[in-house]
Amino acid sequence: MRRVLLDRSVLLMRGLKGDTAAIGNVCPHRFASLSEGRFERDLVECPYHGLRFDMSGQCVHNPHGDGRITERARVASYPLVERHGALWIWLGDIMAADPARIPDLCLLETTDPTDRAPGYLLTKANYQLLSDNILDLSHADFIHPATLGTGGEIAGTKARARLEGDIVTVEWAFTGKGMAMERSLRDGAEVDSRFEVTWYPAGVMILRNDVGPVGEGEPAAKRAGVHIMTPETSRTTHYFFENADAGRRKKLALALDVFEREDGVVLEEVQRNMGDSDFWDMEPLILSSDSGAILARRVLQRLIRRERARSATASHPPQKARLSQPF
Ligand code: FES
Ligand SMILES: [Fe+2]
Repeated sequence: MRRVLLDRSVLLMRGLKGDTAAIGNVCPHRFASLSEGRFERDLVECPYHGLRFDMSGQCVHNPHGDGRITERARVASYPLVERHGALWIWLGDIMAADPARIPDLCLLETTDPTDRAPGYLLTKANYQLLSDNILDLSHADFIHPATLGTGGEIAGTKARARLEGDIVTVEWAFTGKGMAMERSLRDGAEVDSRFEVTWYPAGVMILRNDVGPVGEGEPAAKRAGVHIMTPETSRTTHYFFENADAGRRKKLALALDVFEREDGVVLEEVQRNMGDSDFWDMEPLILSSDSGAILARRVLQRLIRRERARSATASHPPQKARLSQPF
């Protein structure tokens, strides 16, 4: 299958033995998309003039003339790792590819695998805007008043953000009536609620929500979900998400509906308002609820600068900063 990632057209393949590979999707001859060609026996055939490429991106068959295969008859090959039910690709300096930087998402594998139900939405907004949205859950009180909102309880609670290495965690803990969609189940009784978002560069988040009787410490309900923002272009994002608790198939429909009709509409409007302007150049007003999102943006800025500096001093040509993301 073809995916555009960080403005690059990439072909993702699964071979006969189940192995996976990612190569450049644009044929070096006349720039046709390899994804439109046939894929047979671990080889992809360009639909235009029939060059065939293996899963490493090397041309292995030239049906023209004497069939000679020149050095330039190949496409890029990108490091790819399959883990936690996702493919993780690295489009940057190949020497910096490090699978150890893939966040631990084992929580997705702890419940019945037949219940796994990953969601996907292509959103017309920059990936950092989507991460900001998860890192500042106060938006739920205004965007999702009938479902995930807490009637102002999250917004009224001071977000506590902390940084450990390159990982940002932001947390809200309060006693109140909790999420709108659950209030009727409890006849309006108050509960202790805790929301926690952990962000890993460049756009992977685990969102946890514990709810329990007031003052009892151990929550009666623990939920978790994973949200992954992979840039397609500077203005569009592949948004992958999955609940990690039981019954996730049922919850997928609600999540898709809520995000598409509520978050997505606002985020795409924000992107239109921002155009191509840089976030910091627009001098955004900062609220207390922004603490996690701002920390994450600072970490990302530092990592991007570091990667650009490393690329500039390396012997190979410099490339734009690329961070580990699932496609
Ligand atoms: S464009 Fe691919 S073989 Fe010509
Ligand atoms: Fe939301």
